[in-house]
Amino acid sequence: MKVFSGLTLFAAVQGCSTTCGCPSGFSPKNGPEGTICYKRYITAKKYENAKAHCQKMDMYLPRINSDAELEFYTGVSSGSTWVQAEKRKGNPGTLLKWRDWKGNILRNQEWYNDPEEKDKDEPSKDDVWGYIKAGSVWGATQNATRAYVCELNIQDCIDDQLKNM
Ligand SMILES: *[C@@H]1O[C@H](CO)[C@@H](O)[C@H](O)[C@H]1NC(C)=O
Repeated sequence: MKVFSGLTLFAAVQGCSTTCGCPSGFSPKNGPEGTICYKRYITAKKYENAKAHCQKMDMYLPRINSDAELEFYTGVSSGSTWVQAEKRKGNPGTLLKWRDWKGNILRNQEWYNDPEEKDKDEPSKDDVWGYIKAGSVWGATQNATRAYVCELNIQDCIDDQLKNM
């Protein structure tokens, strides 16, 4: 097994950018789940249209299920930004819950909560989509429009490159 100095490793990671890099127009950023490529779209769209746009590029909306992820994606975009959070059933027969795109139940979202003003607690009854704004998760109704971020995690690609050197 070959042993690399820190400097060689750095050069190799740079060199890997031709195969593991971000698509044109997308920026890399290191987050809780490794390196992502992301781009912010400021034209507000309905959740389903924003989702379809990301999916067409084999990308996804950010998935927030921890404080670390909320903080990271707030850093990516502090304004209103759709995230993977849909109030729906998973497979037929399962419960109506807040879920990510794979149908997994989101348990650790930090919803907006104002103990002084009950009507400002989120999500509220008719909310079906989630978005982040200013460090909290908020709920939105069916036809609401928001800006969004499409992203792709490239950490597996980077890891494979390092393994195969
Ligand atoms: C969303 O928009 C559709 C089509 O315009 C409309 O039929 C539906 O009632 C709207 N839903 C809500 C909850 O406003």
